[in-house]
Amino acid sequence: MSKSQQEFAAAHYGPRAADYVTSAVHAAGPDLDRMEALLRGRGAGVVLDLGCGGGHVSYRAAPHAGRVVAVDVTAEMLAQVRAQAAARGLKNIETCKAAAENLPFAEGSFDVVLSRFSAHHWQDLGAGLREARRVLKPGGMALFTDTLTPAAAGLDSFLQAMELLRDPSHMRNYSLAEWSAALGAAGFGVREAHMHQLPLEFASWIARTRTPEVMAAAIRALQQGAPDAVKARFAIGPDGGFEIEVGSFLAVAL
Ligand SMILES: C[S@@+](CC[C@H](N)C(=O)[O-])C[C@H]1O[C@@H](n2cnc3c(N)ncnc32)[C@H](O)[C@@H]1O
Repeated sequence: MSKSQQEFAAAHYGPRAADYVTSAVHAAGPDLDRMEALLRGRGAGVVLDLGCGGGHVSYRAAPHAGRVVAVDVTAEMLAQVRAQAAARGLKNIETCKAAAENLPFAEGSFDVVLSRFSAHHWQDLGAGLREARRVLKPGGMALFTDTLTPAAAGLDSFLQAMELLRDPSHMRNYSLAEWSAALGAAGFGVREAHMHQLPLEFASWIARTRTPEVMAAAIRALQQGAPDAVKARFAIGPDGGFEIEVGSFLAVAL
């Protein structure tokens, strides 16, 4: 039987789960600080962390929430989150294995939905956002953070190619315009969008995904042969490190 995209992503991430707990790129960032500031003092109630990975959103949200439900398609990620939550004394984090596109929760179950660095793996962004909207209470807050692609076709193709060579479970980075349209179509009102540049160090970027050498070499060849405008836009360095834009969309369930 052929694997669904969700099973494909889970098979990819399973053996790599521990690396996402220790990853510096995932454990910190201005978007996480802003997220925590939004939750602080809000009495956030029940929070959903969609595509929780190594759990960094859940660990930051838990002190400000009644309950945090960390959802992911990868069982090994959820096991890491349970172990880390216990080690950190965060007793209000629970886990649930599910796909963003098909959530096993009733309408309006959550006060807040958070999702960070996961949507670019979803099989269907629109379906995942509609599910997020369905399980969020009307007026509830959502914060979606993900790596963005530039609107220009040449830059977009280049980024998606690097991403896919690195990680075959990569689906698509979306542009600012695509995010805005998808959020609106799913029933969210976007209140704020914050962008920042995330520097990626090449060696740890490919180590985290255990990218085969042949694919890493292909990325380097692609980078070296890229037009100057591409090299400049992604600030590609001599060792293959580059910068990617991160967008955080603060939205409310309309
Ligand atoms: C880069 S990790 C997430 C990082 C994490 N949110 C953080 O802030 O550190 C991406 C996660 O998305 C999960 N994922 C991929 N497709 C998914 C889907 N359709 N539904 C839910 N989770 C998914 C993967 O299993 C993986 O754990």
